[in-house]
This record gives sequence, C-alpha cells and structure tokens, in this order.
Amino acid sequence: MIIEPMIQGVVARSAHPLGCEQSILEQIDFVKKASPIATKAKRILILGASSGFGLAARIALTFGGPEADTIGVSFERGPSEKGTGTAGWFNNHYFKQQAEKAGRTAINITGDAFSPELRSQVIEAIETYFEGEVDLIIYSLATGVRPNYSSDTPQQWRSVIKPIGQSVEGAIVSLETDQWQPQTLEAASEQEAADTIKVMGGEDWESWIDTLINAESIADGCQTIAFSYVGSELTHPIYLDGTLGQAKIDLHQTSHSLNLKLANFNGHAYATVCKALVTKASVFIPAFTPYILALYKVMKEKGTHEGCIEQMHRLFTEQLFSPTGTHVDGERLIRIDDLELDPQVQTEVSLLVKEMDENNFKQLGDYEGYKREFLQLNGFGYENIDYSLPVELSQYTLES
Ligand code: NAI
Repeated sequence: MIIEPMIQGVVARSAHPLGCEQSILEQIDFVKKASPIATKAKRILILGASSGFGLAARIALTFGGPEADTIGVSFERGPSEKGTGTAGWFNNHYFKQQAEKAGRTAINITGDAFSPELRSQVIEAIETYFEGEVDLIIYSLATGVRPNYSSDTPQQWRSVIKPIGQSVEGAIVSLETDQWQPQTLEAASEQEAADTIKVMGGEDWESWIDTLINAESIADGCQTIAFSYVGSELTHPIYLDGTLGQAKIDLHQTSHSLNLKLANFNGHAYATVCKALVTKASVFIPAFTPYILALYKVMKEKGTHEGCIEQMHRLFTEQLFSPTGTHVDGERLIRIDDLELDPQVQTEVSLLVKEMDENNFKQLGDYEGYKREFLQLNGFGYENIDYSLPVELSQYTLES
C-alpha cells in the first residue's frame, strides 16, 4: 500500500517504515562519527526503547563505542487491518536489523511494562541473553495510563498535564490543521495530581529495580537512569509547578532511594534532566508549544540545538561516563538541559513567546522545523524517500 501521513490533532495515525529506517540510520551515523562513549556497561535494559530518548540511548550505546547488547521494552503495534502500525514498531525492527548486522544482541519485548508478565519476560531474557545480569537500566517510559495490577478489579491511573492551584492560559498548535488554538488549562484536582505521580513518578522505576534485585539480575557496578524535565520560569506554571513537575520531583526523590539500594552493588541511580524536544510524548503537553517553537528558533540560530541523539551522546560522553566521574548538580541531578537554560537563550525565547500569536507563530517560531520533526518521528518528510511507492506491510507483521 501507499502510506500517507494521517494526523489527528497532535497524534499520528500512520507511520512509514522506510522513514523510520532512515531515522535509525541517521542516528547511527551521528554516533559513529561523534567522539566515542567510554563505559564498560555491555548488557543494557531499556524500558521505553522504541522512540525518543530511550531509542537514542539504545543507538548511542550500541553504535557509539560501547558495543552494548540491549533488551528493549516498548508498547507498540505492528501492521494489521486496523492500520499501518506505529513508528516505534518499525524503529524496533530496523534497530534490531542494524544491531545484528553489527554482531550485537538486540532483543525487543513489546507489551505493558507495568505488568508482572512483562517483568517475567524481561528476567527470562536477561537469563538467556545476558548471563543473568544487567549493567545499566534506562527508564524512559512516557505514558498517560498505568494499569493497577495489584487490584482485583480492573483499575488504572491516568496522568493529566495540568497546573496546580490556578488555571494557566496558553496555546497548542494542531499538527493536523496547522492552526493555533488558545487554551485555558484548569487547575488539577488533588486526585488528578496524585494519579499523575502514580503514572509518571518514580514508583514504577523503583519497582523495576526491586524486581531486578529480587531476581538477582543486578551486576556489580550496575547503574540506572531515568529522564526528567525542569525547564525555566517560562514553562514552570504548566510543567514544574504542575502535575507533571510533581511527578518528576517524585522521580528525583526516587533516584536518591535507588542510589542507596544500588550502593549494595557498587552502583548508582540518577535522574537526568533533558532539554525540551519534539517527541511523541511532548507534543501532547498543552500550552507548551509556543515555548518549543521559540526555543527551536533561538537554539537553531545560535547553533546549540540538539535532538534526542545529540542529547544522549552528550549525556554518556560528558556526564554519566565522563572520564572525571559522573557530573551532578547540587540536587544530585545530571543536567543536559544547560544549553536550553542558557540565560541569553531564555531572554530571547521569552521575548518571542510574549509576541507570539495565531497570526505570527510560523514566522516567530520554528514551526516548519517543529512540524518536520514530528513528521519524521513517524517516518515521513524525508527527502530521499519516494513516498509514492507502495510498501509491503506484511513483511513487518511478525515481532522482531
Ligand atoms: P516517547 O513517547 O518518544 O517514548 C516513550 C517510550 O515509552 C516508547 O518506547 C513507548 O513505546 C514506551 N512506552 C509507553 N508506555 C509503555 C508501556 N505501558 N509499556 C512499555 N513501554 C511503554 O517519549 P520521550 O519524550 O522520549 O520520553 C521519555 C522520558 O523522557 C519521559 O520520562 C519524559 O518525561 C522524559 N523527557 C522528555 C522530554 C521531551 O521534551 N520529550 C524532555 C525531558 C524529559
């Protein structure tokens, strides 16, 4: 079939396998040419491995020097009568193909990372492929729901992206219609805030590490990282001071308790604060779009813009595995959001955001770059791919 982009609001309803392959190849190419990552971690578990930061981390550690073997967990869908399948499904397929070509082990496990069954599958894969132990666990899940598996009746927590205490005015741009849509975000209820912490806070990260400790799957010196966002005062009302920020603060606290647990194995746990980027997860954040549009514009003009792969490369070379030891701030957070938070960048972004409205957002902000990146996340918008040619999707139906 011929696959065309289908966008509903900010959600892609189709994905193109060849564009996903292209994205994998470009990220591999980047890390192969960049300075090598120096770590002895060879057996790596990535929770949330099929897109965004998790995928970039997997690529960086496989092809950027360490030649790691990986087990990647994700929640993705293959082609069926219902649709093309998700971009993450094709990313898994092509990552594995490239990794195996390079002689590496790359195991993809798709399913719900919150479920006990999937944990058992992962432990089994660690036994089979990693001689029973992992050296590094990267926690990079981004989701809106977490089923409660310990409840007898079906129950789930849902995260919301809302301010706390007072409402916030903002805008989102529909990637379907390219229209600016003003928004008023009402303050979250206490229950909504608590549920968001359940979904995106540190509890599940901690339970994964506990599961691995109980299964005796933690290698000596094992480390774990999870990703966070802090942002600046421009984004604090909707992010840091809102429901997601509370969940991230919970995640930061979890990093300290996990650090104590992993000390028993001579290991460490860190929360890593990344920069704002267009990913499947972030385009959902209401009232955030004007900030990202302005940020992209300013950072690209200054030559300091980074995508997921550049961020992960810098994390591993200069921060987590730096020759001078892991670099952390006063709160024991690894920071790779420094270029975003550069005061000059923030001053310029603030001026643009103040001026931005429905008539000028395409000129003042980098809407073209934002939209291109969104399309490319789903395999579209690559100039070297002939999208008029049909694709045989049945070759991708089996899990890779
Ligand atoms: P993403 O949407 O690109 O990737 C999320 C991954 O989680 C995918 O592999 C997906 O399949 C997997 N996943 C989701 N639900 C799952 C489930 N139930 N079971 C198994 N796998 C599941 O997201 P992105 O943006 O890379 O986010 C990763 C982390 O980075 C999140 O914690 C996010 O808050 C954080 N972050 C993101 C920033 C951004 O601007 N995108 C900035 C700073 C931090």
